[in-house]
Amino acid sequence: MNPLFQGTHQRAFGTWPLQGQALRDALRIAVDTGYRAIDTAQMYGNEADVGTALKAVGMKREDLCITTKIAPANDTAEAFLPSLRESLAKLQIDQVDILLLHWPPAHGDVAPSVQRLEEAVQAGLARHIGISNFTAAMMRTAKAATKLPLITNQVEFHPLLDQRVLLRTATETGIPLSSYCSVARGEIFKYPLFEEIGAGYGKTAAQAALRWILQKGVTINTMSTRRENIQANFDVMDFTLSSIDMDRIDALNSTNYRIVNRERVPDAPDFD
Ligand SMILES: NC(=O)c1ccc[n+]([C@@H]2O[C@H](COP(=O)([O-])OP(=O)(O)OC[C@H]3O[C@@H](n4cnc5c(N)ncnc54)[C@H](OP(=O)(O)O)[C@@H]3O)[C@@H](O)[C@H]2O)c1
Repeated sequence: MNPLFQGTHQRAFGTWPLQGQALRDALRIAVDTGYRAIDTAQMYGNEADVGTALKAVGMKREDLCITTKIAPANDTAEAFLPSLRESLAKLQIDQVDILLLHWPPAHGDVAPSVQRLEEAVQAGLARHIGISNFTAAMMRTAKAATKLPLITNQVEFHPLLDQRVLLRTATETGIPLSSYCSVARGEIFKYPLFEEIGAGYGKTAAQAALRWILQKGVTINTMSTRRENIQANFDVMDFTLSSIDMDRIDALNSTNYRIVNRERVPDAPDFD
């Protein structure tokens, strides 16, 4: 696993849809809890709030791992680097740790977009690059389009969605997955199985679901405004689900419940 995704960085704090004071409060709690990886995006409209909040918590820059994502509208030869410079100014940093393409281009030709990520590294504006919401086929094309490692494909990943094809492709291409909607925005709580399994380890339903994700080799992004949930989502490293419990959770993937689908994002590609 990439060192960037080990230890603390296996759990990132997501910032969508937080803004303003709510974001500043949540980020303060997250950093106090121990989160060092922070996830934002141009599309969230909150990079300036993230920058202000991170300045206020007074962490050393090198101790933080900040991800931002290029919005599809800025994924053009003209707009890409200027938009990234604007993001960095809002975030009050000179270089982002991880720069992702937020969505694959609607026309499907991913190579020029991946080359623009490379240019961001060459210009010193990004340390590492990756992709988000890419299908298995797009992961392969993206890998072939660059000599630089693509350090993640950030995708919807939780126990209610069957992402086995992407998991296999992550192994095949060496592009690890990271999750969003990790607790399926609360949908997992409709399934008593998580509470039952969590209780067997002295853990909550959310922690059982997040642990399942980690044991699939996927790093997690979670978002919460509540101190107890922010803490719980971080405290998932001190237990291991048995293979029987992993299998019981695996069985829920037939639900195939996808949150970020075409109704929400018209250009969202279908996963295999
Ligand atoms: N790349 C992409 O296209 C993409 C898309 C979506 C999201 N993301 C990123 O991923 C992050 C997380 O995804 P998400 O916010 O969509 O989904 P999520 O983490 O599955 O759901 C967040 C919701 O779940 C609740 N929650 C979180 N932890 C909980 C816990 N331990 N117990 C009970 N409820 C809990 C939160 O409510 P409370 O505040 O009440 O705790 C919040 O309403 C986002 O913030 C964003 O950074 C990326």
